[in-house]
Amino acid sequence: MNTITIHDKQFSLFIPSEKIQQRVEELAAQINFDYKDEIPLFISVLNGAFLFTADLLKKITVDCQVSFVKLTSYQGTQSSGVVKNIIGLNEEIANRRIIILEDIVDSGNTAVHLLKEIEKHHPSEIKIASLLLKPTALKYDVKVDYLGFEVPDNFLVGYGLDYNGLGRNLNDIWTISME
Ligand code: IMP
Ligand code: MG
Repeated sequence: MNTITIHDKQFSLFIPSEKIQQRVEELAAQINFDYKDEIPLFISVLNGAFLFTADLLKKITVDCQVSFVKLTSYQGTQSSGVVKNIIGLNEEIANRRIIILEDIVDSGNTAVHLLKEIEKHHPSEIKIASLLLKPTALKYDVKVDYLGFEVPDNFLVGYGLDYNGLGRNLNDIWTISME
């Protein structure tokens, strides 16, 4: 099946699961190489990054820690641009090398907000790993250090991404069909 319906919208297959897994493995290999000497603290942004986090961390072979934060900014298929509070940022961050794990960097609003908050705790370094980036939607100066795929500015679901609560469990990534 190359199309699915979620709520009122149709989606077509965009990135198949095998391609996602292969790319996640490549990103893990890069991180394993870069963090041989220091234990990184992964900060995973819920809900969207849960599958990316799980699959990536299964391929991380260096010692590491993982923590989860939550902040919601999204309703429907349009970013509201409003970022709420960060819940769960209680790990010892001072002098640590931090890797933020995101499902997607869209406007960059969430990432900028999170970077600012984490910086207050004086880490030695902050990097961003994101499975997806929409370069043409970026409104903030955000650098993604470990990137899975650059994608066009169309609404996506699957592999953690939802459309009004549905679709996070899908193994593939789907793109909204044009009407
Ligand atoms: P940003 O703050 O605009 O960069 O948006 C970040 C968050 O919006 C992501 O972590 C996602 O949860 C959500 N998001 C952005 N684009 C999409 C999409 O195409 N589908 C579903 N969620 C999205
Ligand atoms: Mg997210």
